[in-house]
Amino acid sequence: MNYKQALKHHIFDVISQSAQQLNVDCFVIGGFVRDYLLERGDAKDIDVVAVGSGIQLAQQVAKNLPNHPKVQIFKTYGTAMLKHEDIEIEFVGARKESYNEDSRNPFVENGTLEDDQNRRDFTINALALSLNSSNYAELLDPFNGIEDLDKGIIRTPLDPDITYSDDPLRMLRAIRFATQLNFTIENASLKAISDNKERIEIITKERIVVELHKILQSKTPSIGFKLLEQTGLLDYILPELTALKGIDEIEGQKHKDNFYHTLEVVDNIAKTTDNLWLRWAALLHDIGKAPTKKFHKKIGWTFHGHEFVGSKMVYKLFKRLKMPLNDKMKFVQKMVFMSSRPIVLATDVTDSAVRRLVFDAGEYVDDLMTLCEADITTKNPKKFKKYHHNFKIVRDKIIEVEERDHVRNFQPPVSGEEIMEAFNLKPSREIGIIKEAIKEAILEGDIPNEHDAAIQLMLEKGKALGLKTTE
Ligand code: CTP
Repeated sequence: MNYKQALKHHIFDVISQSAQQLNVDCFVIGGFVRDYLLERGDAKDIDVVAVGSGIQLAQQVAKNLPNHPKVQIFKTYGTAMLKHEDIEIEFVGARKESYNEDSRNPFVENGTLEDDQNRRDFTINALALSLNSSNYAELLDPFNGIEDLDKGIIRTPLDPDITYSDDPLRMLRAIRFATQLNFTIENASLKAISDNKERIEIITKERIVVELHKILQSKTPSIGFKLLEQTGLLDYILPELTALKGIDEIEGQKHKDNFYHTLEVVDNIAKTTDNLWLRWAALLHDIGKAPTKKFHKKIGWTFHGHEFVGSKMVYKLFKRLKMPLNDKMKFVQKMVFMSSRPIVLATDVTDSAVRRLVFDAGEYVDDLMTLCEADITTKNPKKFKKYHHNFKIVRDKIIEVEERDHVRNFQPPVSGEEIMEAFNLKPSREIGIIKEAIKEAILEGDIPNEHDAAIQLMLEKGKALGLKTTE
């Protein structure tokens, strides 16, 4: 078969001609070929392997392109990169590699295309398309990667023990590809991942997080988290989640398995939102349940305060994984902290409770509702329907209350200055007391969120506090 169609972009002609000028062979390899064959759309990252110097080839390509793009050179790796239109092309010389025990960084030797394909992670990523005039667009597939693509199998070109031990990041890549593509990791690979799991410790946190993000951004993230758990990797990466595993039973009373429940919640939320951080919130919403779990003879299993404990754990977890400790982290904390609030509402929807929810969740109230809807994993169809129905009522009420009371980004209707002026006060405790009373009255629905009503209440409160007005 001929794959000319895959190489229809004019850049491939330029690369091919450049290689000819230098008298080297070169091939498109890896993700671009894989994604073309999977019909995942044209990838914007192209990897080119040259049997010779990748850096020289990149420079020749840049020379031949009309706008002569800048070539970025990574000397230590012997690679070079350039950007053309919206495409990023990475050039590498074909190589043989051997690794040392403590690091991912290999000793590099020049090699043939076959050597280069051998050192790649998976058969489906070792597929190469020729850019040489003698066999242009021919597929070079020494490990039958095309069959693995067809059958949906993740397999390593070499003994998996070698491939994973050489570069332990590949253990996560295997699981990430299995999740993204809904592929099966072959048994020998799965075993090798389990056997090499502790080698994940030589991988930087940043690279681990990239893979976790990709798993979370997949259609069904649970595939990845189940594999991480099954291979033992999860213990090294997110022990907070493995701690949720299992069902305890005392005196005939059981609680649900919060690990598998969490994964259902993550899959649910993946159906309704692309927001990565909301997906993180779903993944972490119950992590406080492991340290707060208690059994009481009368009431059974409880997880009191798990939302607060969980939100504190989010900070430690983000810090450990070197994730940003910025507003994204605070958002996840807030979602975890508030994750049980709407559930209470679902059984008893009052205006004041909805107003308080909107006040506390602020601009994130819709995200919070999305999380709580995803949290409904009951297998009882009647309860399922009822909870969703109740949340629909809560959502409608949020809109209604918001239109009337504007508490989402609450601004006090009476300012501190106005209070000071009215009672001829210097900054003092009383101002805080009056402001709090006004806010409480609005949230309770005793007064509308309006200036006149708030002034009225201010005067009453001031009088009760023994303050005199200036007039
Ligand atoms: N590769 C590898 N081992 C790694 C990383 C990459 O063997 N740890 C090889 C694979 O052949 C891969 C290619 O380098 O196809 C390019 O890697 P990368 O750009 O990271 O991944 P893609 O396969 O292009 O896929 P994606 O863009 O989805 O990450």
